[in-house]
Amino acid sequence: MFESFYQKLETLGIVPVVVLDRVEDAEPLAHALMDAGMASAEVTFRTDCAAACIGAMAKAEPDLCVGAGTVLTTDQLDAAIEAGARFIVSPGFDEEVCRPCIERGIPVLPAAVTPTELIAARKLGLTVTKFFPAAQYGGLGTIQALAAVFGGHRFMPTGGISQANVEEYLACPAIVACGGTWMVKPALFADGDFSRVRDAAEQAMEAVHRVRG
Ligand code: 3PG
Repeated sequence: MFESFYQKLETLGIVPVVVLDRVEDAEPLAHALMDAGMASAEVTFRTDCAAACIGAMAKAEPDLCVGAGTVLTTDQLDAAIEAGARFIVSPGFDEEVCRPCIERGIPVLPAAVTPTELIAARKLGLTVTKFFPAAQYGGLGTIQALAAVFGGHRFMPTGGISQANVEEYLACPAIVACGGTWMVKPALFADGDFSRVRDAAEQAMEAVHRVRG
């Protein structure tokens, strides 16, 4: 299930985790990411304009793979799908959020940080899960320990990943892609200049190419 999406994640290497307060920022942000060769965005439902931002980013850059993050409820899930989200990310594991995605063929990445949560996700057929918050739950060491038990399972860690440690994470075979906010922090574009986002995203993509070729 979702094999082609998992392959896409592998190619993307990094998924920027976006928190937008203003829908006006969605379009220039989409352009900055695409200019940097970072062809995805996880737009989080932590702000009211998340659904509108998903739509605006996808419209501005049709090749940008725009998904929804921080999806906690089925209402948010419906809004995300309606807005055109191409994948769904959740900070925890909730069967009520995962099942409709599976039924509708929309890739879903719930977070799982314990063996019990992984078992629950894998029971639904999910073989890639988010690992969040990565730093606080033991980072690479925990991922490697889980991967040794759950053969073939892969992770998308987020939380505490930055330009300084992303290469270390990407080098781990159990990691399909890394997520993070470091190249899309609101402070980088508060003045309306998105060139700092583009530069940071470019640097991040250079790290992906160094590790994965
Ligand atoms: C997420 O939602 O995945 C995290 O907020 C990203 O964490 P970061 O800000 O440490 O990158």
